[in-house]
Parts: sequence; C-alpha cells; structure tokens
Amino acid sequence: MINPTIPQPIRVVVMSDPHLSCQNERHLQQWQNALLMAKNQAPDLYLIAGDLTEKGLKEEAELFKQSLAGLDKPCLFVPGNHDLGNKRLNGKEGEISSLKIKNYRTNFGPDFLAKNYFGWQFICLNSQLLQSGLKEEKKQWEFFKDQLAIDCPKIILMHTPLYINSPDEAGGSYWNAEPEIRQEMLTIIRDKQVLALISGHLHRLVINQGVSLFLSVPPLSFGLPDFHLGQSFLTLDLDLRNLHWEMHSIESLYTKI
Ligand SMILES: [Fe+2]
Repeated sequence: MINPTIPQPIRVVVMSDPHLSCQNERHLQQWQNALLMAKNQAPDLYLIAGDLTEKGLKEEAELFKQSLAGLDKPCLFVPGNHDLGNKRLNGKEGEISSLKIKNYRTNFGPDFLAKNYFGWQFICLNSQLLQSGLKEEKKQWEFFKDQLAIDCPKIILMHTPLYINSPDEAGGSYWNAEPEIRQEMLTIIRDKQVLALISGHLHRLVINQGVSLFLSVPPLSFGLPDFHLGQSFLTLDLDLRNLHWEMHSIESLYTKI
C-alpha cells in the first residue's frame, strides 16, 4: 500500500494558450493534434496554463471542455486574459471585472483551486486577479496562503508570469505582474516547497531560476513574434530531487509570411 503523504514520481503534461474559438479551425486542429501527442506521453496529469479560448464565450468554453473528454487522466486549468480579461491597470475596457469572473465560473468552473495528486499539491491561481483590488482577490489570497502552509511539495499554475527577465523589472504592461504584488508573491512562496511556478501568456518558452523555477510554457495556437513558430507542449518528470522537462513540438498550421 502506497503512503499518500509521500510524493510519488509523476509525469505531468503542461500545455498553454490554445485560444480555441468556433471560428478558428486551425487552432482547434493544432490543439487536437497536441492532445493526441500528449496522451502518447502517458502522463499522470495535465495542466493547462490559460487562454483556453479566444473570448471566454459559452460556446468556446463548451468547445474547450469537449476537447478534454478523451483524456483519461486528471486535467487542471486556469483562466487567461482572453478568458476573463486583462490585468487591471487603469480601468481600460477589456480588463478583469467581477462580472467577467462570474461568467468564467459559470462557463468553465472555479477560477482558482487546488488538488493533491500522488502527494503533490497543485495550486491553480487566477493571475488576472493579482493587484486588481476586486473583492475576489482577497479570497484568492487567503486561499493561497492556506495552500502554501500545507507540508508537501507544490506546483503553482497561473497564466501571466510574475516576471519575464528580472524580478525587479518594471510593471505597467500587459505581459507580467505588477512589481508590488510580484514581490509579495516571491516573498510568500520562499521556503514553501514550491518546485515550480508555471505560466503561459508569452507565447514562447521562457525559463528563470529564482526563489523557484519559473517556467512560461510555449503556446499551442500561435507563436510570438512569429506566428508559425514554437507551437509546443512540455512534459515534466517530477520526483523529490529532480524536475526534468522536455519540449514536444507540434506541426504549425500557420504558414510562414
Ligand atoms: Fe495567449
């Protein structure tokens, strides 16, 4: 009998940014091809780092959820800015709001949650909420602190990375977390057995080693800055001492311009 409190070696597939919509056959085909390839890697678990859909519409959410029906292992996913709005900067149109969160919860399910599989705690956060000042942010923060207090190794999943090049970089942009909340996050996760913080959003692979491993995984829709490059997913083989990652590329259906 396996003791569930001792983390077991596991394989996790990490995918991001499928940007599914009922109008975009190319993204759907690439996503389906990627799921097929991912299944062949025999993972124990799937993680999807947001921008599940193009606009977070009900019909898009249905398309996304239907696409997961063939997976025979658990799958956790988080919202991206395309699913429930950009981070709050100055009240611009398209930013996250309580109404958009409500719609996301109706269409997709919880925007933050945690699950334990094989002794590993997977903490899924709504990165768009960070420093939003919305009432939902406080609840997520309390939830996050409770999760970090659990005595076991952890993986954090969220859409927008805390930073791209440096923990001290500027905010005010679309691509990273604001400096104040970033520093709070970096402080709070220190010495809490966080093996990796996984994000997407950048549409290219970016890896940083700081108080944890920060892994922004590649997209499955379009690459940046070149749409036809970089469509890939990662496998992570985790044990208590090592995190081994490998990138698996799919054929892009975008042609070179
Ligand atoms: Fe995206």
